[in-house]
Amino acid sequence: MSNETIIQPLQGPLQGTAQVPGDKSISHRAVLFSAMAEGTSHLSGVLDSEDVRSSIAAVTQLGATVDLAPGKDGSLAGTVSGWGIAGPTQPDVPIDCGNSGTTARLLMGMLAPWPIQVTLTGDDSLRRRPMRRNTAPLMKMGVQFKPAEADHLPITEVGTSDLRAIDYDAPMASAQLKTAVLLAGVYAHGTTTLHEPAPSRNHTELMLPEYGVPTTAGTRMAEVSGPAVMHACDLRVPGDASSAAFLVAAALLKQGSSIRVEGVSLNPARIGFVRTLERMGAHITEHIEGHEGKEPYGTIEVAYTASLHGCEVPSQHFASILDEVPVLALVAAHARGVTVFKGVGELRAKETDRVRAIMDGLEKLGVDVWEEGENLYIEGDPSLCAPAGLAFNSEGDHRIAMTWALVGLCGTEPVTVRGFDAVAVSYPTFLADIESLVRS
Ligand code: S3P
Repeated sequence: MSNETIIQPLQGPLQGTAQVPGDKSISHRAVLFSAMAEGTSHLSGVLDSEDVRSSIAAVTQLGATVDLAPGKDGSLAGTVSGWGIAGPTQPDVPIDCGNSGTTARLLMGMLAPWPIQVTLTGDDSLRRRPMRRNTAPLMKMGVQFKPAEADHLPITEVGTSDLRAIDYDAPMASAQLKTAVLLAGVYAHGTTTLHEPAPSRNHTELMLPEYGVPTTAGTRMAEVSGPAVMHACDLRVPGDASSAAFLVAAALLKQGSSIRVEGVSLNPARIGFVRTLERMGAHITEHIEGHEGKEPYGTIEVAYTASLHGCEVPSQHFASILDEVPVLALVAAHARGVTVFKGVGELRAKETDRVRAIMDGLEKLGVDVWEEGENLYIEGDPSLCAPAGLAFNSEGDHRIAMTWALVGLCGTEPVTVRGFDAVAVSYPTFLADIESLVRS
């Protein structure tokens, strides 16, 4: 990711209506759960991005038949025929999960019930990310990992047809960890329960029943009883709230803007950024219009707000803004007073160390930003204006690339973003979508 992209200022305010591509978390699950299921699932609205392509390639290598093709709206639609009760086939070569933590960590749970040997690997960024959080509970269920103590890919997994159900206290709120344990739990004898310190996104609990597997979900626990058989289902993926957050932030930062983002997931576990922006005084509302399965979706409306002010974001809200902290930090840099994001330590384990990446980028903008323990402080300034000639580095992280691109798009001077092509991981049409809101 060494390319340099010069991002030019938008020529006017953002106006009109946008749709964002399919939700990344739900798209991964739709592909992966369909691959596990007995029968043929019909999917639409699936995000066509590098990360989701990693999941598609992985399940194909394991014997599922994926026939998904891009439609007119750019999303993938078609069928996935799963391995069902026959199980996945032993792949000849390691599975390369690319940049995708969700692919790697969910696969660990999916492979747990099958006595085959599979090596998982990924790109440089993914090979630096912690994996013990997933292997530890799966080992308690009877799965073997080689090397047993490994925290980093490549890791080889050998599953077992004799999985033990567990009652597990997760050390951190992580939907990828929770999902891996629940997916293994589908095949274990008895009830598998996972408790988490704060509620992580709940797509797995909402989607497994669509595949014929009932789940019990509390605020900080989820449970599944096995062994159960997953059956194919029909599913449409709503738009990605995390992608919508970038359009929303652009509208808030570009004077005169007023936009609607339609067809976007409004799952409360994913729209913590709307709550945070409300606390900053933003003109923003959301309306639920329907459900895809159990996932609520609808419209977010937002308008440029001149009088944003800093706020405190308590650590119990962190899981619901996990992927949005970088872009919220940029908005906070334009708000009057101090914003504190509490309990953000997990951001260090993302595609890059996002705490450091946020601090480095904001410092280039001349913003006062500091950390105390696990808390990130930003002293905002409504008159903040990026100087000419700024260059940022995405560090291969899609959300960091889009955050610094907004500095150029919403400011008055072009900025350079090195490694901008990382946006292909979650939002390949990011620039085109923002620019189309200016022309419409
Ligand atoms: C995801 C969970 C989150 C999030 C990631 C996608 C998922 O990570 O950051 O982008 O689809 O389950 P955690 O496992 O830390 O919750």
